Amino acid sequence: MCDEHEGFTLWFTGLPCSGKSAVGDRVAEILKQKGHKVERLDGDVVRRDLTRDLGFSKKDRDENIRRVTFVAKLLSRNGVAVLTSFISPYREMRDRARTETTNFVEVYAKCPLEVCIQRDVKGMYQKAMRGEIKEFTGVSDPYEEPLNAEIVLETDKETVDESVQRVLRRLGELGLL
Ligand code: ADX
Repeated sequence: MCDEHEGFTLWFTGLPCSGKSAVGDRVAEILKQKGHKVERLDGDVVRRDLTRDLGFSKKDRDENIRRVTFVAKLLSRNGVAVLTSFISPYREMRDRARTETTNFVEVYAKCPLEVCIQRDVKGMYQKAMRGEIKEFTGVSDPYEEPLNAEIVLETDKETVDESVQRVLRRLGELGLL
């Protein structure tokens, strides 16, 4: 283990099926190979455990992100590379995470809604469009695009590997590798 690595918070945000988890998982593997202490906080996993009591109203989404931010704060200040993947649709909560955590790096997984709908990995967009899921981000709930993300991935134009390399390059430029 290399103790010289600084902790940081790599915060992936974007629509459902925008590629947040795919890119985050791969970056996490590479950082581990490089000797970083790494923790993943992924919406689908965290919502089965730490925030299983929460739904998808604005109030609940804010609470979800508030708890995750707290965990990321504790880890990142202790030398851990924390990679979070949450839709995190509200700018205010992402900006709060930026001020609370150590070395916050925002990664916007940018992808047109039509492409996310085509991907529809879990069939949730179809359900949302049939009205079977309420308050579904991109269909019947808002997503506020980042205005000043450190990294903007265009996941409809880049391969996962290209996006991963872009994240790693930027982390290098920021002196975090
Ligand atoms: S966030 O808005 O609070 O940041 P989070 O990333 O934790 O959301 O959870 C998103 C995941 O929950 C999606 O990948 C999807 O599988 C599931 N999900 C269930 N209902 C909804 C909904 N109404 N809107 C968005 N995602 C939903």
